[in-house]
Amino acid sequence: MDKIIINGGKKLSGEVTISGAKNSTVALIPAAIMADTPVTLEGIPDIEDVYSLIEILNEMNVHTEFHDGNLLIDPTEMVSIPMPSGKINSLRASYYFMGALLAKFGEGVVGLPGGCDLGPRPIDQHLKGFRKLGAKVENKMGAMHFDTSEGKLQGTKIYLDVVSVGATLNIMFAATKAEGVTIIENVAREPEIIDVANLLNKMGANIRGAGTDILRITGVDKLEGTSHRVIPDRIEAGTYLAIAAAAGENVLIDNVIVEHIESLVAKLDEMGIPMEIGEDSIRILANNKPLTPISVKTQPYPGFATDLQQPLTPLLLRAKGESTIIDTIYPKRVNHIPELNRMGAKIRVESDVILISGNPQLTGAEVQASDLRAGASLVVAGLMAEGTTTITGIFNILRGYANIVEKLTAMGADIRIEYAE
Ligand code: EPU
Repeated sequence: MDKIIINGGKKLSGEVTISGAKNSTVALIPAAIMADTPVTLEGIPDIEDVYSLIEILNEMNVHTEFHDGNLLIDPTEMVSIPMPSGKINSLRASYYFMGALLAKFGEGVVGLPGGCDLGPRPIDQHLKGFRKLGAKVENKMGAMHFDTSEGKLQGTKIYLDVVSVGATLNIMFAATKAEGVTIIENVAREPEIIDVANLLNKMGANIRGAGTDILRITGVDKLEGTSHRVIPDRIEAGTYLAIAAAAGENVLIDNVIVEHIESLVAKLDEMGIPMEIGEDSIRILANNKPLTPISVKTQPYPGFATDLQQPLTPLLLRAKGESTIIDTIYPKRVNHIPELNRMGAKIRVESDVILISGNPQLTGAEVQASDLRAGASLVVAGLMAEGTTTITGIFNILRGYANIVEKLTAMGADIRIEYAE
């Protein structure tokens, strides 16, 4: 079993540069196949999810080249093949092939997506949107079958019952080449939505309103290749902010769009963590004073990101008193809690409220990363703890954090990966 081993208690300092955003990247790649000519994506993070998506593209006869963060995607010879199972089931973002294949070929077979276990993760809103645009959608033995043989997708008005990043992007993809105008209401406003809309517009799409809660998409016939640089990863930035505040003494986090993590910065400020905010960086300064406990409630963007509540949890152990977290997006996103408690934390979950008693005395232990952000939470805790922490399930961490061991080592952490024979 592959393991990450951390000898904790070292104070981190220096600098870390944030990579391209995972949750943009995993949508930009499926978006790129909708073009008729090659697309180059720049600043693509070196994470396992990217390699999984590249494998899926190659299965569809899409030529790819990935060097130094530049990913060339050439869909010129792409073929529509059914993808009921296999790699497609291994990551959440494979659902973006539903919208992309519908737009490109008017059909597709896509296995139901996998991804992190955060409790129920339905895709009813995605499917509602495809049906409203005129696609026939059927679930046959765990794979979704899409078909427009009765006529091209038609622009329409769609209201999302829940604010969903995935549904917003997937319906946007399908509507991009539909006939006429599609209005999607109550859409997600995450920065990743704007990033993906920017790529599609450069490819020739006509998408207006990205970043607001209403999208207006006028269908176009053709999409062409272009190049595009992915935005920095706000969740990776937030994770390193938590690391720096929990286990650092003077750390600069660079390549950050500060506006994208304002909700986290406000909470760190409330805790009494000294920071210097630069134009595209944040420095966390040394601080030995006790921290103030806080209450966090996750919300759709621009609210506090659900993806950051797990990495933040170990830092809250440094507060003097009890902090609370309510995750309104994924109330069952609590897989990190029993593992943190094995390291000596005192955290309870009562009626979907996470209650964290201030107690920074963590001890290294053997723990398991059951999902990506739970894994990040264990890395933060391992860096804070006295002694050795051994984390298994590390694929879940490497899926989404580029060069995490190298980045932390450069800041003085004692961390390494031990691969099974
Ligand atoms: N929802 C529905 N029906 C749907 C779609 C969503 O009820 O058809 C609900 C979900 O159950 C959830 C809420 O709506 O309660 C929001 O879910 P959303 O669709 O926004 O989540 P997602 O698109 O599947 C993306 C990120 C997640 C991140 C969430 C929320 C990707 C690939 N994943 O997931 O990222 O937590 O948005 O911001 O972009 C991660 O990076 O660790 C991660 C899990």
